[in-house]
Amino acid sequence: MAKPKVYATHSLFEAARGILKKGCDVEYWSKDGRPPREEVLRRVKDKEGLICLLTEKVNEELLAAAPKLRIAANVAVGFDNIDVAACTKRGVTATNTPGVLDETTADFAWTLMMAVARRLSEGEALARSGKWKNWDLDQLVGTDVWGKTLGIVGFGRIGRAMARRASGFQMKVIYTDAVRAPAEAERELKAEFRGMNALLSESDFISLHVPLLPETRGLFDAAKFSKMKSTAFLINTSRGPVVKEAELVAALESGKIAGAGLDVYENEPLIHRGLKRANVVLAPHIASASLETRTKMACIAAENVVALFTGKRPPNILNPEVLKTP
Ligand code: DGY
Repeated sequence: MAKPKVYATHSLFEAARGILKKGCDVEYWSKDGRPPREEVLRRVKDKEGLICLLTEKVNEELLAAAPKLRIAANVAVGFDNIDVAACTKRGVTATNTPGVLDETTADFAWTLMMAVARRLSEGEALARSGKWKNWDLDQLVGTDVWGKTLGIVGFGRIGRAMARRASGFQMKVIYTDAVRAPAEAERELKAEFRGMNALLSESDFISLHVPLLPETRGLFDAAKFSKMKSTAFLINTSRGPVVKEAELVAALESGKIAGAGLDVYENEPLIHRGLKRANVVLAPHIASASLETRTKMACIAAENVVALFTGKRPPNILNPEVLKTP
């Protein structure tokens, strides 16, 4: 019997290719960079499966170009690139890769926090420049992380992984979320719930861990920055459009906040030029980018695809209603 045809917009990792090999006939995009949109639209024409990255929009246009499509498997936990409702309407299963990247992403949010607080980018630039002349008492003095107050916006798996790390730094942890965490989780993580305004005014570091939804788009704007301490830092490893970038630049320029550590941007891969300043640490959306984690993400996407084509329920299905028989 012919194997189901799948298009993968990345060559993935060998482990994921191994999972797909047995049950699927996969065509991989294996050139450098991301495939042009026209290429993706052309390739999906005769495919029953798609494995894509967050750089591909799975929208009406793509679904219309792929009449045989049965599954769109995102290699990411965030799925704002997928129009899930449109997939459901066409009977296409949508999946993501939750869970495996929580600790790695929290590690990186921590990396940004430490780097911006302790002025690592500036220090590294000086160390490499050949212009470092001498040790000095007030040279590149930053601010302590230990003992400060960490405010977590979005207390899901990654937010909680962030909180867990804070105890080693003797930090006070406060969080806000649409739904308050169970008392047991608050106790275990020594995290106190706050309303947004209280979190803004109490935190020394604010780390964002919300998905991009209509309610979170532009959540951090001038009004929020004006309620933060002028000594506070914003860390964003969630999605760029959660922050109004131009308003963040204005807050940084006017000294309303002390700095930022950013991994994500409003219009990736473009980065607002106003963010390229000494008190901002910038990374190119790599919070989950350890080899171990990215390999696991690719394997999970592959497993979701194989599950569907072997008549099983994909473990990470976003629209389970498509599997219900009428
Ligand atoms: C995700 O998975 O949503 C990240 O942004 C990339 O790992």
